[in-house]
Amino acid sequence: MFDVAVVDPVVGFIEETIDPSLDVFEEIERLKVEKNAVLLAHYYQEPAIQDMADFIGDSLGLSRQAAATDADIIVFAGVHFMAETAKILNPSKKVLLPDLNAGCSLADSCPADAFAAFCNKFSDHTVVSYINCSAAVKALSDIICTSSNAEHLIRQIPEDEPIIFAPDRNLGRYLVKTTGREMKVWDGVCIVHETFSERKLVGLKMRNPEALILAHPECEETVLRHADYIGSTSGIRRFAQESTSREFIVATEEGILHQMRKDCPDKSFIPAPPESGCTCSQCPHMRLNTAEKVYLCLQYEQPEILMEESVRLLALRPIERMMEMSAGVA
Ligand code: 13P
Ligand code: SF4
Repeated sequence: MFDVAVVDPVVGFIEETIDPSLDVFEEIERLKVEKNAVLLAHYYQEPAIQDMADFIGDSLGLSRQAAATDADIIVFAGVHFMAETAKILNPSKKVLLPDLNAGCSLADSCPADAFAAFCNKFSDHTVVSYINCSAAVKALSDIICTSSNAEHLIRQIPEDEPIIFAPDRNLGRYLVKTTGREMKVWDGVCIVHETFSERKLVGLKMRNPEALILAHPECEETVLRHADYIGSTSGIRRFAQESTSREFIVATEEGILHQMRKDCPDKSFIPAPPESGCTCSQCPHMRLNTAEKVYLCLQYEQPEILMEESVRLLALRPIERMMEMSAGVA
């Protein structure tokens, strides 16, 4: 017997014991059917969770799935802001997050009260916020974007409208460069994407000269300047599938490598190296979810994402704007 914890939004952790003879994967399949539940997973989830998901995707794809599902329960194997977005889009559904502590350093780097004060200083600016932020920050925004559609959306904002971009400074700086638009960029960062080492990346490329470097725009400029392709997790996956190259160095959370290796078993994928010999290219928030917690949250239907209706309605408006403005974006 081993203990697993499940988080209750009110009382915190409840210790549960799962019988080790229980096949949690079979149980999850059974509970999904019994409760008409759908399991959505981000590419940064551990491989076991990706393999049992009904849909795997990037932030945009997962939001679209969450909005469209006819399931009664959405189990969101991702982080808090993703599950919150699912609830904003589909309030009549029960949205569960296997571990309620699965947060995001980027979202945490932008507290709503400080952001409100920042926006007030530039009240004539259009506020574009990356989806990696809290519902309260979304409620202060005009347009939400993801790494798949950010450039496409910013190009649609009239030239004479000044822009605030939050919370990721690396994505913000990248967008300033690609769109030529001046923006007031919030100083937030992802703890995973800032760990990649330019020095080690260059060394790796010298030892693997045929390998193309694929990077997520949350990486620092020192890494992005070496990239052959920059895009969202879905974009990185698609690029490798369509490319005639056979070797790739991948600068994003290493969970994505699981799908890339499944897509292209004859190609070689090397994770970009972090500065120290740590496992910092695994997101510590994403990795709080486990197959056992997915099972427990389906069984007990908690932890559940709940939010005030007034905040939900304010946060919905910029998300809907994103959906309308990026209708054709893959
Ligand atoms: P995408 O999957 O949308 O590229 O986002 C990456 C990420 O950091 C999610 O937290
Ligand atoms: Fe947040 Fe970075 Fe983890 Fe994505 S990888 S959830 S941006 S901390």
